[in-house]
Amino acid sequence: MRNVKFRDVLGTPLMANATKIILLGAGELGKEIAIEAQRLGVEVITVDRYDNPPAAQVAHRHYTVDMRDGNALKAIVYREKPDAIVPEIEAINTDALVELEEEGFNVIPNAEATRITMDRIRLRKLAAERAGVRTSRYKFAYNLDELKDACESIGYPCLVKARMSSGGLGSSIVYDYKDIEKAYEKAVKYARGFGEHVIVEEMIKFDMEVTELPLACLNLNEKPDILLPRPVGHVRTGGHFHVSWQPFVDIDEETDESTVPFQGYGSNLHLMEDKTSGKPLWRSEWNDKRLPGKLVREVENKIYETAKKVVKCLLGKKGGFGIFGCELFVKFDEKKPEVYFNEISPRPHDTGMVTLVSQNMSEMALHVYAILRLPIPEIINMFPGAAHVILSEKDGVWGPTYRGLREALMKRNIILRFFGKPCTYKHRRMGLALAIGKNTVEARVKAMEVAHTIEKGL
Ligand SMILES: Nc1ncnc2c1ncn2[C@@H]1O[C@H](COP(=O)(O)OP(=O)(O)O)[C@@H](O)[C@H]1O
Ligand SMILES: [Mg+2]
Repeated sequence: MRNVKFRDVLGTPLMANATKIILLGAGELGKEIAIEAQRLGVEVITVDRYDNPPAAQVAHRHYTVDMRDGNALKAIVYREKPDAIVPEIEAINTDALVELEEEGFNVIPNAEATRITMDRIRLRKLAAERAGVRTSRYKFAYNLDELKDACESIGYPCLVKARMSSGGLGSSIVYDYKDIEKAYEKAVKYARGFGEHVIVEEMIKFDMEVTELPLACLNLNEKPDILLPRPVGHVRTGGHFHVSWQPFVDIDEETDESTVPFQGYGSNLHLMEDKTSGKPLWRSEWNDKRLPGKLVREVENKIYETAKKVVKCLLGKKGGFGIFGCELFVKFDEKKPEVYFNEISPRPHDTGMVTLVSQNMSEMALHVYAILRLPIPEIINMFPGAAHVILSEKDGVWGPTYRGLREALMKRNIILRFFGKPCTYKHRRMGLALAIGKNTVEARVKAMEVAHTIEKGL
C-alpha cells in the first residue's frame, strides 16, 4: 500500500472544504455510521432503494435508486465526489465500484474485497485455500447433477447456499437425497447472480457462533495494521441475528472458569422463543456447564488468528481501512478446540451492534475513524453487554408506534434504539434493546425482557 499517514484535518459539512462520505445502503447500521460521522462534522450522503430509510434520517442528503444499477451509482458519485464510498449492504453493483476505484475514488475497504465477500465461491477459495484457515468441508456445484454428487460426497445433513445471496435467502438444509432438487430451485430463485452456482457445506455442530470484528487501520506507528476487539457471541433464530453479547465468554478470575453456565446454541434462554425455526438441530454439550478458562483462551486466540489471516488475504496488496464482521463457529473440544471460518463482510456487522454499549468505541465509530485514517489508540470491552432484536409481529403497518417504554426503561442500564423504519413486515427488525450487566447472561436476560415488552405493543 502507498505510504499513508494519519489524517490531521477535517472540514465543515456543506462547505467547500467538507469531508464527505457516501453510504451505499442506509439501514440501522448505516444510521449509526452516519451519526458517528456527523459527530465529527463529516458530510453524510446516503443511497438506498426507498425513501426515508434509517440512515437517511440523520444524513445531509439522500438518493433513492437501485444500487444494482451501476450507471445510477456512478452518476451520484460523480456529482458528490465523496472522500470515501462506504458500502453498507451487499446488493451493490460491484463492477461500478471497481470502475470508480480505478478512476481514483476511495472504496471502503477496497473494491475487490467488496466483490469477493459477496461471492461465496471466491470467498471460500480465498479463506480455505489462500489464507489457509479451517472451514467446514465444502464442494462447489455449477448444475443440478454436480450438486447431487456434491451432496452425496459431503454427506447429510448438509447446507446448500447460492453463490451470491445473503440473509438466509437461497440457502437450505438438505437432510437427504430427495431434498436436493428443492434446495437447488430455491438457490436459483433467490440468487443475486450466477443463479446456477452453489456451494455445499458440511454442517458443523458448533457450541457457539462468534463474530470477530477485526479493524483494518493505521497503528500508532502509522503502519497499516489489524486491531482485534474481544469476540462477540450470538444466537440466531431462523437464520437471523437474534441476540449477541460481548465478551463471547466471561471468565471469573478467581475460579478461572466461565462466570456463568454456558448458554450457547440451542440454549435454554432462546429455545423458548425460537418461533421461526422450531426445534434446534442439536444442543451444545456445554450448555449449562462452566467452561474452563484455559480452553476459552485457546479458542479466543484461534479466533484472532483466523480473522486476521482472512482480512490480510482479503485486503491483499491494495490494502484498505475499515471494520469487518468475521463469522466463526466454535467447538469447545477440550482435546482439540476448533474455530471454523464461516464468512466475512467488510463493514459493521448486525451482531456487533452490542458494541454500542459494551466497548469504549462502537463498531460504527471504529469504522468511521478507520476510514478517515484517524488514530485509534485502543479498543476496550468496558462492560459485559448484550443486544436483543426488537422484531415486528405484524405485516404492513405504516408508521408503527412503540409502546411499553415506561416498563422497559425502569430497568437499570438499558438503552434502546428504534430504527425509524417507515413500515413493518413480519419479523422485520425495527429496533434493538441493549443492556450491560454483571455478566453477559444477566445482560442477555435484561435485553431479552425489554425487547419482548416492546414487541408485545408493536
Ligand atoms: N456449515 C454450517 N454448519 C452449521 N451451521 C451453518 C453452516 N453454514 C451456515 N450455518 C448457519 O446458518 C447461518 C447463516 O449462514 P451464512 O452462511 O452466514 O449465510 P448468510 O449470508 O445468510 O448470513 C449461520 O450464521 C449459521 O447459523
Ligand atoms: Mg452470515
